[in-house]
Amino acid sequence: MNIIVTDSPEQAFRKAADMIACEVLYNPHPVLGLATGRTMESIYRLLVKQYEASDLDFAATTSFNLDEYVGLSATDPNSYRYYMQEHLFEHVNMSTSQIHVPNGIAADLDLECARYEAAIEKAGGIGLQLLGIGETGHIGFNEPPSAFNSRTRVVHLDEITRRQNSGMFGNDPTRVPEHALTMGVGTILEARKLLLVAVGKGKAAIVDDALNGPLNENVSATAIRLHQDCTVILDNAAASIW
Ligand code: GLP
Repeated sequence: MNIIVTDSPEQAFRKAADMIACEVLYNPHPVLGLATGRTMESIYRLLVKQYEASDLDFAATTSFNLDEYVGLSATDPNSYRYYMQEHLFEHVNMSTSQIHVPNGIAADLDLECARYEAAIEKAGGIGLQLLGIGETGHIGFNEPPSAFNSRTRVVHLDEITRRQNSGMFGNDPTRVPEHALTMGVGTILEARKLLLVAVGKGKAAIVDDALNGPLNENVSATAIRLHQDCTVILDNAAASIW
């Protein structure tokens, strides 16, 4: 595992954006696994800037997002599909056919999960998977416990996660959906490269658990240590315990 510690969050975002840009520029058929959350906003901003400066071209890129809330449609401002549109998709040359986000309002959610897995496979698998880390140690929405061989599925969100993500829901955790669709830990581990980014003091303890704690399904981020090609980018605050 390649662990990079930077002096500031900005440097961490820059390094992460550079890695993604490399994948987009030098892979003839880039398949990106994308993530949401506050950490990713700055990374997407840098990628958009680079695209606007004509230094990046997404024409050949396919993307698959990690997760989506159950019950929220693409037009709901709290959905991850909406987030992605706002922070990345509407600013770069990616069309709807290149973009994949689990459909949180599918009539048959299990079928939607199977369809999602099949679409990833049809695209040739994910080349670079971007990951954040939640307070529960989740990657995607793989809440404790999540089997390391789990696949895309419906999950029940932990109370801690609903509180952590309540900012978008008027700071009211009860308004955060109770369920989500998420790629499984097994699905994530099949990506050819993993890139986990965490910044800030608030992430220090869970980053330490993920990197140093026992491998266990109650902290799904520990699974990234099983991957052959995994980069972790931290700022010095997130690395302060590790
Ligand atoms: C959500 C997403 C995760 C992400 C986490 C971290 O829970 N489902 O994929 O890692 O947020 O978010 P933040 O970057 O806001 O701390």
